Amino acid sequence: MVGRKVGIVGAGFVGATAAYSLAMMGTCHEVVLYDIAPDVAKGKALDIGQSTNYSRHSTIVTAVEDASGLVGCDIVVITAGVPRRSEMTRADLLMINAKIMKDVVGNIQKYSPDAIILCVSNPLDVMSYVIHKMTGWDRKRIIGMAGALDGSRMAYQIHQKVGYGSGQTRAMIIGDHGQHMIPMPETSSVGGVPLNQLISQKDMEDIIARTKEGGAEIVKYLGTSAYYAPGRAISVMVEAILDDSKIVMPSSVLLDGEYGYSDVTVGVPVVLGSQGVEEIIELELDEPTKEKFARSVASIREGIEILESNGFFA
Ligand code: 2OP
Repeated sequence: MVGRKVGIVGAGFVGATAAYSLAMMGTCHEVVLYDIAPDVAKGKALDIGQSTNYSRHSTIVTAVEDASGLVGCDIVVITAGVPRRSEMTRADLLMINAKIMKDVVGNIQKYSPDAIILCVSNPLDVMSYVIHKMTGWDRKRIIGMAGALDGSRMAYQIHQKVGYGSGQTRAMIIGDHGQHMIPMPETSSVGGVPLNQLISQKDMEDIIARTKEGGAEIVKYLGTSAYYAPGRAISVMVEAILDDSKIVMPSSVLLDGEYGYSDVTVGVPVVLGSQGVEEIIELELDEPTKEKFARSVASIREGIEILESNGFFA
């Protein structure tokens, strides 16, 4: 197998769980973990590497102490960044994480100039935008992971209500990975049966609310962000790219006229293949959804403007 090296920047819970998922699924030949805390990357790489003895695949999992170890990656997943702490403003958090992106992206450009970047750092859509601006790469090669996760959360909530159709539930979410995300029950189905024929409007509203709160609900219980579903969502996207499987997955991509917007990154359905984003699918949105999408885009632009007014792009 040639060309199957995946770099993961940030060996926290999300990065490590993504590495574990890739190793268990045998998606790639090699995973390298890089973290500003080298011992964390080393410990997790050892632990995950030792688990592969009992997996059906022999993915090699190692830690690299220096960013130069990210050389020759086909895909680099960025999970680095700090979570918001109580004393931080939204602007503080944006500036801190945008600066981290700048450093990380500089290293990727140096050591893996042909890679596809999968951004997972939050606020997701704004960080994906930062990576576009920093690299100037073809927009196909920079993809924000959000819809894959939010969709799996919605599918879970649908199954909770319906009680059947496990593994046959399809759910789509567009917009930002935040308060204004847009779950689309009208496109959801269980075993091919449209969701609105299976559940009441009230149940639909519950599903939408629980999905939007999906990340926060887990933080409430754990005191930290989710990582199993995010880790698996990352590995599914990596698999689609490496296998050139051309699955349709909502992802945060840079729009250039699609949906009537340009120069903003937001979640829309795309085709994922070996080139990265091989196609952006333009859904026909009804008027209320168009309004929601506009609000969602506006919330992402607010974040971008905070960075602009703090001189980040200067
Ligand atoms: C989540 O939605 C924090 O993006 C992460 O769980």
